[in-house]
Amino acid sequence: MRRFVVLVVLVALPLAATVVVRAAADIPAWAYAIAPPPPPPVPGAPPVVNPAVADTSLKSIPGTTKQFTRAQIGGREGGPADWFPEDHPVMPDIVARGKAPDVRACSLCHYPNGKGRPENAGASGLPVSYTIQQLNDFRNGLRKSAEPRKANTNIMIQIAKGMTPEEIRQSAEYLGSIKWTPWIRVVETNTVPKVRSNGGIWVPIEGAGAGKEPIGVRVIEIPENAERTEIMRDPHSGFIAYVPVGSVKKGEALVKTGGNGKTIECGSCHGPDLLGLGPVPGIAGRSASYMARQLYDMQMGTRNGEWTQLMKPVVAKLTSEDLVNITAYVASRPVSGTTATK
Ligand code: HEC
Ligand code: HEC
Repeated sequence: MRRFVVLVVLVALPLAATVVVRAAADIPAWAYAIAPPPPPPVPGAPPVVNPAVADTSLKSIPGTTKQFTRAQIGGREGGPADWFPEDHPVMPDIVARGKAPDVRACSLCHYPNGKGRPENAGASGLPVSYTIQQLNDFRNGLRKSAEPRKANTNIMIQIAKGMTPEEIRQSAEYLGSIKWTPWIRVVETNTVPKVRSNGGIWVPIEGAGAGKEPIGVRVIEIPENAERTEIMRDPHSGFIAYVPVGSVKKGEALVKTGGNGKTIECGSCHGPDLLGLGPVPGIAGRSASYMARQLYDMQMGTRNGEWTQLMKPVVAKLTSEDLVNITAYVASRPVSGTTATK
């Protein structure tokens, strides 16, 4: 019995020690873009009308003669609008329309071409086995957000839980068959537009409150054109990632050398040009905010799948500033229509 107690203490000690270890980085709030809670309704005020429901006019975007209402764009009538069907292979039903009640159409958030937005993920051009692994990690509680208020990650988890293995395979093969092409423009700057969070994405403030502010130790990713992104969900209208002056160069040093043991050189697993290697995903030219969330989620242990273990020593010592520099550099790396491997 005594020996058993000693054993329990010995086993429990390192566990207790791990619990109190602090993450090296503070939560990069810029990468999560969580809006403050709305103020309580004023008594007697008229009910707030959702503009997306009230507006029934037909919308247009450059490059196509197709027109859709906001209800169609948002997928409230059948599958979400597909502005450019010639852009991508025929979508499997689960991608185009989803499956009631829990599986929303992937094309709504990730767009039919899988390019996605900073608040979700660029889901195309990834190795098929990697995507299957991620959907299973979401299903099995091994991939959550370190920010529990990140509502769309919780929806992503619900979606993965509602999918059959066959639907997971079909969507992974579909998304993996589409090339990853340039989508985010990295710009070094000292000042950024003042932004507000709109459902997990930053958009510049217009009218009262508009202006500029110092970037600080942040990446601020905004749509190239707020209307084409927010209202039209235009899959040809990409994003700008504003990053601090000098961050790309500092990030390059960490990524290429590992920074004297601070991290591990990324190319050894993600490929020399960071475009992916075997089942390891490409990271070049992808959203800096998305990647920073993932690195922080891994550091906090909320993203903790079987394959994530390889990333544990990579992220363990990264500070908030490292997250900015590394993701600025990686997002700025060129992509030239890279295809995924299986
Ligand atoms: C409501 C919006 C929404 C819908 C609909 C949605 N996703 Fe997601 N998805 C997300 C979000 C948000 C994330 C990123 C989570 C994070 O950053 O914490 C994500 C991440 C992913 C990832 C991880 C990508 C990576 O690089 O690791 C995959 C794969 C994915 N989604 C596949 C799908 C598939 C397949 C469907 C349809 C069956 C789908 N998603 C539908 C919001 C959505
Ligand atoms: C030892 C191999 C290894 C090294 C070194 C490595 N990675 Fe990874 N990385 C992986 C694997 C494997 C995954 C998939 C993790 C999972 O399934 O959760 C991954 C995932 C990621 C992701 C998430 C991708 C996505 O689409 O969600 C990012 C971002 C990332 N790595 C960045 C980096 C950076 C930046 C470096 C260098 C500082 C680096 N990695 C070094 C193996 C590695």
